[in-house]
Amino acid sequence: MSSKENMLYVHPVPVRLWHWINASGFIVLIGTGFQIRYAESIHLMSLNHAITLHNYIGLIVVANYFIWLGFYFSTGKIRIYVPDFPRLIPQIITQVRYYGYGIFKGDPNPHAMTSQNKFNPLQQQAYLAIMIFILPAQIITGIFLWRIAGYEEYINLLGGIKIIDTVHVLLFFFFISFIIVHCYLSTLGSSMLAHFKAMVTGYEEHH
Ligand code: HEM
Repeated sequence: MSSKENMLYVHPVPVRLWHWINASGFIVLIGTGFQIRYAESIHLMSLNHAITLHNYIGLIVVANYFIWLGFYFSTGKIRIYVPDFPRLIPQIITQVRYYGYGIFKGDPNPHAMTSQNKFNPLQQQAYLAIMIFILPAQIITGIFLWRIAGYEEYINLLGGIKIIDTVHVLLFFFFISFIIVHCYLSTLGSSMLAHFKAMVTGYEEHH
C-alpha cells in the first residue's frame, strides 16, 4: 500500500516529458532504422516512408534532447548524475553484488533513494555516459547522414561517410541492448511497476 509519507518526488515534469517523448521516439527510430538498414529482408513499410519517418522523428528526438539538457543544466540538478568519485569503487562493488546476489536473497537495495540523490552509482555512470556522449554521438552522426552533401567537410574530417554510417549503426544496436537492460532494471523497484509509475507520476514509492 502506498501512503503520502512513503512517496518521494523524484522526476519533475520536464524530465518525465523528455523521457517519454524520447522513449517513444526511439521505438519508431528503431523500427524505421531496421527497415532502412535491412530493406531487402524487412517490409514494415516502403523504404521512402521509412526514411521520411526516421528523419522527422529523429529531428523531434534531437529537439527533445534540449529539454533534458536545459532542465538539468539550468537548475544545477545535473549533480544528480555525477558520481561521488572518492567513494565510487566501493559503491559500485556493493551495487553490483546486490544485483548479482543480494537481490535474490531479498536483501535491501544498498542505495537509499532521496530526491537529491535518486540514482545508484551504476545508474549515474550509465545515464551520464548515455546522455553526455552516446546520445550526442548518435545525434551528430544522424544529422550528418541526413544531409550528407551539406556536411561533407565535417564528414571527411571524421574519416568519411563509411565511418559515420558504421558508428550510427553500431550505436543503433547499442541502444536496442540498452533498452532491454534498462527495462529489466526498471522492474527492480519496490514493486515491479514502481519505477515505471514514478516516471509517469513523478513519485517513487520507497520504504
Ligand atoms: C521503451 C522504452 C523505455 C522505457 C520503458 C523506459 C523506462 C524508464 C523508467 C521506468 C525509468 C525510471 C527508472 C530510473 O530512474 O532509473 C527511466 C529512467 C531513465 N531513462 Fe528510460 N525507458 C525507456 C527508454 C529510454 C531511452 C531510449 C533512453 C535514452 C536514450 C532512456 C534514458 C533514461 C534516463 C536517462 C533515465 C533517468 C532520467 C532521470 O531521472 O533523469 N530511457 N526509464
